[in-house]
Amino acid sequence: MTDVTESRHRWAEKFPFLGTNPIDTRQCYSAEHFELEKEKIFKKVWWQVARVEELPKKGSYKVRRLDFADTSVVLIRGKDDKIRAFHNACSHRGNKPVKETSDWDTYGRARGLAITCRFHGWVYNAKGELMLAPEQDKFFGIDPATCGLTPIACDIWNGFIFINLDPSPSQSLGDYLGDMGDHLSNYDYGSLPYVFKYRAFLNANWKICCDAFQEAYHAATIHAGTFPDIFYTAVENVNIAGPHRTSAVCLNLETMKPTAVSTITSEISENSITQQRGKKMLPEHVNPTNRPDYAFEMPVIFPFFMVAIGEGVYFTHIFYPIDKDTCVWEGAQYIRQPANYRERFAAEHGQVLQRDAWLEDTETMEDTHAAVRSGAKPIFNLQDEEVLVRHQYHAVKRYIEAKQDFSGRFSWGDM
Ligand code: FES
Ligand SMILES: [Fe+2]
Repeated sequence: MTDVTESRHRWAEKFPFLGTNPIDTRQCYSAEHFELEKEKIFKKVWWQVARVEELPKKGSYKVRRLDFADTSVVLIRGKDDKIRAFHNACSHRGNKPVKETSDWDTYGRARGLAITCRFHGWVYNAKGELMLAPEQDKFFGIDPATCGLTPIACDIWNGFIFINLDPSPSQSLGDYLGDMGDHLSNYDYGSLPYVFKYRAFLNANWKICCDAFQEAYHAATIHAGTFPDIFYTAVENVNIAGPHRTSAVCLNLETMKPTAVSTITSEISENSITQQRGKKMLPEHVNPTNRPDYAFEMPVIFPFFMVAIGEGVYFTHIFYPIDKDTCVWEGAQYIRQPANYRERFAAEHGQVLQRDAWLEDTETMEDTHAAVRSGAKPIFNLQDEEVLVRHQYHAVKRYIEAKQDFSGRFSWGDM
């Protein structure tokens, strides 16, 4: 199979509104720019914070620190099985009703479906309503109905829990995801429950981190150790839907030579992104031409959530900003439950290969950020196959300059 690229600038021709100018790197370390991103993006749009499997039972909760927003969110599954989100702040004197026991996520189960603030014992139910305030009669006319936990907008898409910090989001989650939500639906995420997760605090701006996961140009160099001559450095099926973007990563069938062990384990576990298995899980409109070299779909849900889907495997990456120079990366790979030791071994083998590739990816981020921050390189020079990177900076700019949200529909026109 040869590269079907018809033009050296095919994506610039398809998406002329993105232009071809270099990207200004100052936005990756400017304090002023980060403040704008906080106010106009992070506190306005929907972003993913958990999967439903993380809250398996009534009363299960998860607390996620949101340092960039100076808060933390409590997600809790109620008696009615509905998952709700609240600021982790008590209506009495603001202590955190759920004690955070980790520097990132805290998990637990609320006894009796009640959250009790340990400072003075105010009790809230899983709907966030104040149930009890000790010595309530000594307060000065407080109304329990107005003293609940402060809700955060929360909705679920294909088992992914999203929140929106805007007290009155201007778009529903469905409208925000738009066509990209449809594009990535009709895929049975729930059938792949076996998960490997990695997390690291990175000294790099969130956009620089996302950049490293939205092009395949680096595959031949950075991944020469883990995936030698396996992937094309071009991307296919690029589509843009409002602020969201997607592409297909493809295999170079002429040069790829998986190791003997990889070939065997891929066949057993069916979780390898380098093995072709036809089209059983992927929705119709993903790889619509049934490319034989298709490996996986690599979409980014704006601003910083990637959910890549393939046959028998999907993986997610998210880069939560902390400040302009720091973020938290979480990578997770989901496959079907191994049924025996043979499948377990095969799954582990495929996973460590993927882990090593992700370490190759993440290893570039801090160096890139440090170099960019020096001011020595005021621009990024992008080639045509880095079109998703270009679109990221375009979407950030549009949000910062715009007064309204964008529709997440394909054919963004001149947006
Ligand atoms: S701060 Fe929570 S009960 Fe006092
Ligand atoms: Fe990579």
